[in-house]
Amino acid sequence: MNDVAVVAGATGALGSAILRRLVGADLTVVAIARSVDQLDAVAGAEGRVVALPGDLTDDGITDRLRGLLDELGAPVRMVVQAAGLPGSGNVDTITGAEMAAGIDAKIGGFVRLIRGAQHRFTEGSRIVVLGGHYGYEPSPAAPLAGMANAALGNFVRTLADRWGPEGVTVHLVAPGPVDSPRMQGIAERAAARRNDGVTPDQVLDEYRSGSPLGRLTTVDEVAWAVGLLLAPEAAGLHGSTLSLDLGRRRGIG
Ligand SMILES: NC(=O)c1ccc[n+]([C@@H]2O[C@H](COP(=O)([O-])OP(=O)(O)OC[C@H]3O[C@@H](n4cnc5c(N)ncnc54)[C@H](OP(=O)(O)O)[C@@H]3O)[C@@H](O)[C@H]2O)c1
Repeated sequence: MNDVAVVAGATGALGSAILRRLVGADLTVVAIARSVDQLDAVAGAEGRVVALPGDLTDDGITDRLRGLLDELGAPVRMVVQAAGLPGSGNVDTITGAEMAAGIDAKIGGFVRLIRGAQHRFTEGSRIVVLGGHYGYEPSPAAPLAGMANAALGNFVRTLADRWGPEGVTVHLVAPGPVDSPRMQGIAERAAARRNDGVTPDQVLDEYRSGSPLGRLTTVDEVAWAVGLLLAPEAAGLHGSTLSLDLGRRRGIG
């Protein structure tokens, strides 16, 4: 049996590209998402993918993941939390319930994943979570993404203290806006909210112009960065953030 990786959000734009990278690195991938049909499509299209349909907001996912990993019986080389945040309002419309649900899915889900996989960690295992640019560059348009991603920066450091002594490293991968269906949807909602005649494509152009490269981060760039973390030398990145924002960030440090 090959070593195992666990990818949550495995049917998403980023999660499915990450899954393909990890399969290409000779890992068997446990793929987690809620939609059974989409998971089956991913598992059918790729060899060595084991579908685990489930909701990261459900505590039961931990025991189900633990049981499946015991059946597979191999070390876990990498856990990736790539599940999407639920939809939420802007700073004027977001509700407390939306904020709490988002944190539960993204950060609570990350905790549930780690708990389900940790008994199979070995020296050199990687714990990876996707955050994002808004955690460092807050925007009134995306308060939940900002807060969740900033909190992940802190939590990754906490996990680095916990797992470093066991030779397990922890990494936050933080893309800027990615050329993906999710970003297309965000641009459509932003255009509708503005109600000033702006089109979703013009909103996307504004996002593109926020980078000196004049474009969005690609799905492949994010998947490449996660795949890179399998290298033994990537232990040097323990506890840090891999920023894939194409030079958007203005602050130093
Ligand atoms: N796309 C971007 O521009 C961008 C930029 C920066 C950071 N990010 C980070 O990357 C994440 C993923 O982005 P993406 O573009 O790949 O999103 P996406 O295409 O919308 O995919 C989201 C994935 O998460 C799964 N998921 C959502 N809620 C879940 C839950 N409660 N339990 C289990 N699985 C769940 C979805 O499947 P089901 O719905 O079937 O469960 C799907 O597989 C974002 O949320 C964000 O944190 C994205």
